Amino acid sequence: MRCRTLFAAGLLVSAGVAMAADPATIARAGAPGVAACSSCHGAAGEGQGSFPRLAGLDSAYLARQLDDFATGRRANAVMSPIAKALASADRQALAQHYARLPPPPAATAARGDPAGQRLAMRGAWAKSVPACVQCHGPGGRGVGAAFPALAGQSAAYISAQLKAFRDGLRKNDPQALMRAPASRLSDDEIAAVAQWFSVQPARRPGGDP
Ligand code: HEC
Ligand code: HEC
Repeated sequence: MRCRTLFAAGLLVSAGVAMAADPATIARAGAPGVAACSSCHGAAGEGQGSFPRLAGLDSAYLARQLDDFATGRRANAVMSPIAKALASADRQALAQHYARLPPPPAATAARGDPAGQRLAMRGAWAKSVPACVQCHGPGGRGVGAAFPALAGQSAAYISAQLKAFRDGLRKNDPQALMRAPASRLSDDEIAAVAQWFSVQPARRPGGDP
């Protein structure tokens, strides 16, 4: 009995491996119709320039973003064709792969913009903008699958996403939770808060919440 169960489990495991390609290989070298993730997101998913860091982000958040790119719920000229070319099992496997990688170390030498810090920690209640950390967690380290980490994320990427939410170009946020605050932010506020989050230390996998 025990033997048969083990045998069945073994079959399931090998079937799974045959269906999904090795995510580390796709990340490093790509797949047919899919450019290597590392060529934009960095060798260890650390992000570079306006390409977001993926390392250490929540796996369910990453998987949903890849699914949204594939279905068109989130539109991007670069990412949409890549996500469409990946099998659903590969999108899942890549999300888990990147979630397990450690985020890059904090830029300890860089000073956070004080106006950005105020907005992040206290919000701007005069215009109904809640503190970012109310949703994105203390220090912007992220909360579960719904609220992505902003700490240690590229400032250029954070700015671009805030403008995309504000201008209605990104609208895959559940219940417009992110479009509402973004719609009330000025370019200066966006630049300041993006810089502040980019120099905050990211949560280490398995580390403190
Ligand atoms: C040619 C460059 C390029 C390649 C190759 C690439 N990406 Fe991206 N990726 C981007 C850009 C640009 C964005 C930001 C899209 C936007 O502004 O909405 C992005 C965004 C993402 C996001 C959303 C992150 C977030 O925080 O919401 C995920 C997840 C992602 N990419 C995964 C991947 C994976 C997995 C691969 C490899 C299969 C890959 N990318 C390959 C350029 C690239
Ligand atoms: C009411 C809750 C809420 C508040 C307040 C909030 N956010 Fe968000 N934010 C979200 C949700 C939910 C998402 C994820 C959208 C999705 O699922 O695609 C998000 C996504 C983002 C993203 C995209 C991250 C990525 O990896 O693509 C950025 C950048 C961001 N928020 C910045 C901010 C900043 C800066 C503030 C403060 C000015 C803020 N948010 C306040 C709920 C909130």
